[in-house]
Amino acid sequence: RLEAVIFDLDGVVTDTAEYHYLAWKELADELGIPFDRNVNERLKGVSRSESLDILLEKSSRSWTAAEKEDVAARKNDRYRELIGQLTPGDLLPGIGELLTALRERGIAVGLASASHNAPLILERLDAGSLFQAVADPAGVRKGKPDPEIFLRAAELLGVPPENCVGVEDAAAGIAAINAAGMKSVGIGSADRLGEADLLLASTAELSAEQLLALFR
Ligand code: G6P
Ligand code: MG
Repeated sequence: RLEAVIFDLDGVVTDTAEYHYLAWKELADELGIPFDRNVNERLKGVSRSESLDILLEKSSRSWTAAEKEDVAARKNDRYRELIGQLTPGDLLPGIGELLTALRERGIAVGLASASHNAPLILERLDAGSLFQAVADPAGVRKGKPDPEIFLRAAELLGVPPENCVGVEDAAAGIAAINAAGMKSVGIGSADRLGEADLLLASTAELSAEQLLALFR
């Protein structure tokens, strides 16, 4: 029985996945390190420091911890500049309607994002009150593809994992949802999200009926 839907944030609720890409791309260009959208796919759902490690795989030299901290902070400053432009109109297509439809049906809504900027983004979108639980990545030991952050959100909502749906745009996120024992919905293409129980090309295709149908 569907009792809760747990959303990823970046690339699902709003298009901040694109801002992450732009901020990493600027940094990579400055550092003279090759970086493209293909490499960027591996960064989706992955923490800031792990993302930087993936980006630096193509670097010709080694980086000290202090240098890495410095460039990660620079990326984050640029990213926060970009998300400063977000307004309540920047929910991705269909998300506002879906959140309303879920509330009308008494289905709980949670957030499971690895981003430390999630509270700021929810504030910019004026969407904080739409989520009954927001899992804090600072309290999570293992990131996606580990199921921990989705399990934490379900626990905060008081719903058993088997009665939850998770929605994700990252391969690591779909793996996390599946490992949590939840039904998974992928937003994107089959080449990356083939493991999802339901695959949709865009958030515009999401509906409460489809999520309910996953339990029939
Ligand atoms: C999400 C995004 C990743 C990002 C991570 C950390 O998982 O999909 O691209 O690296 O959050 O975000 P932060 O805002 O804390 O750097
Ligand atoms: Mg995402």
